[in-house]
Amino acid sequence: MNVKNQMMIRFESRSVNEAFARMTVAAFVSQLDPTLEELGDIKTVVSEAVTNAIVHGYQDKVGYITMTVRLLEGGYVEIKVKDSGCGIADIEQARQPLFTTGDAERSGMGFTIMESFSDKLRIRSTVGRGTTVTMLRRIAGRGGEEPV
Ligand SMILES: Nc1ncnc2c1ncn2[C@@H]1O[C@H](COP(=O)(O)OP(=O)(O)OP(=O)(O)O)[C@@H](O)[C@H]1O
Ligand SMILES: [Mg+2]
Repeated sequence: MNVKNQMMIRFESRSVNEAFARMTVAAFVSQLDPTLEELGDIKTVVSEAVTNAIVHGYQDKVGYITMTVRLLEGGYVEIKVKDSGCGIADIEQARQPLFTTGDAERSGMGFTIMESFSDKLRIRSTVGRGTTVTMLRRIAGRGGEEPV
């Protein structure tokens, strides 16, 4: 799929930056004229992925998170969230609803939510090296029909 526009940001894994990442993606994606529902879905997915990088990937330390957003042909948005944190030992297990290694605050539903709001969700991870989550989501836009 051809890339029509793209951007990349890198920020520290501090919890205040979860809102920053979510708003930045919303601002960039707004050129597709998304519906409020589509925008909400994309913000939710970004929020879950960035929160995971902050709380699980880096745990008690601070590291960099790189987020890449690509606008592809056919109204598809590809969002990549990459950390260089601890990595995930068993990705299949991590994707299961209710599975969590976190504390009582976590419900283990992040990946399930990301999956339900994405057309495609890919997780790549190496223990000790980090995790990259790639989400693909089509935006029909407020025009409703095929985007140009
Ligand atoms: N970026 C990451 N780095 C390391 N481990 C991760 C990362 N993202 C997810 N995980 C692991 O996968 C598990 C499942 O993640 P998921 O987002 O589904 O649930 P959660 O974060 O534990 O809870 P919730 O998202 O509901 O608050 C996490 O508990 C953690 O063990
Ligand atoms: Mg989570």
